[in-house]
Amino acid sequence: MPESTHPAQPAAQWVCTSEALEERGRAVAFDVLQYREPARAFALRFDGQVVAYLNRCAHVPTEMDWQEGEFLDRDKRYIMCSIHGAVYDPLTGRCVTGMCGRMGLTKLEVQEREGKVYWYPSRDTRPVFED
Ligand code: FES
Repeated sequence: MPESTHPAQPAAQWVCTSEALEERGRAVAFDVLQYREPARAFALRFDGQVVAYLNRCAHVPTEMDWQEGEFLDRDKRYIMCSIHGAVYDPLTGRCVTGMCGRMGLTKLEVQEREGKVYWYPSRDTRPVFED
């Protein structure tokens, strides 16, 4: 359910409960509009922080998870694209190695408070259903 903030700012969108995101565990997926086109996004917890990105590799714009919600490599140190193995820093989305070169993931603003995780839409990345 959207939560009103300031009229000039987009309403925060509820993503999931805090307990749904275990440390370096399975991500929670959610739908967004990127430049008015449907896109998938995901939130995960890494080193205690909740981060969120578009589920879109910087190499080829395709979804990256190995299985639904599984983005981390075997050692659970990096986000790794399942297609050609590009490796990203989980906290920044920057490319560490592989086919992503200087590109990185598209980071979404999220905040965790009072046991809930919220996504803050931007000018470019909007909710699928806006109030
Ligand atoms: S599509 Fe992700 S590394 Fe090629």
